[in-house]
Amino acid sequence: MSLHVLSHPLGAHVLTHLRDKTTKPALFRTLSYQISLLLALEATRDLATVDKAIDTPMEPTTGHVLGKPLVVVPILRAGLGMLQPFHDTFPDVSVGYVGLERDHATAVARSYYCKLPPLAGTRVIVVDPMLATGGSAVQAINVVKASGGKEIVFVCIVSSPEGVAVLQAAHPEVPIHTGALDRELNGRKYILPGLGDFGDRLYGT
Ligand code: PRP
Ligand code: URA
Repeated sequence: MSLHVLSHPLGAHVLTHLRDKTTKPALFRTLSYQISLLLALEATRDLATVDKAIDTPMEPTTGHVLGKPLVVVPILRAGLGMLQPFHDTFPDVSVGYVGLERDHATAVARSYYCKLPPLAGTRVIVVDPMLATGGSAVQAINVVKASGGKEIVFVCIVSSPEGVAVLQAAHPEVPIHTGALDRELNGRKYILPGLGDFGDRLYGT
């Protein structure tokens, strides 16, 4: 059961501009890319490597290359805002999709799409910018496990104490990487201080 809160001056800077309600969608998307890249590096810090013999222009040597296939699973729709840095940084990453949408009245997530690649033997990184009640993250990880995922990490940009507790209770072995752990949920199950509705701000809806 581990919770990792990002600690990097650039992370704090980016998050502040993401939270600012005057930030428009184009900049919001760039900032999402930047903080997701920092989180991607943190969430893969412990990835296994294997030795690889190579020749430099000077002499033979042994290097190290990534030893386990990586699968990234964005939770639609807002999770798409975190996908590109994984694509750009990890050469052979596969992508799976889980579509979930919270009901506006109940805040309970409804599943509307799922397409996952083979997961056996992989590191699966489930990404969703907001961990609020934890319902979406728990559902997505249930699906990943049912499809054969075993080594799973969850990455989000902002989390609430309530969401972290729910996710840790349901999936205690799944490490959580978050850009920030905020104060609480409001009555409508939005995170405070938070940044509002991530999907709406990402896509200008
Ligand atoms: C948001 C967010 C998470 C979910 C978090 O998605 O991206 O998926 O809410 O809330 P929870 O922890 O209480 O489940 P939303 O349902 O608004 O859909 P969207 O990504 O299509 O905007
Ligand atoms: N989903 C969001 O986009 N923001 C919140 O604060 C909670 C759920």
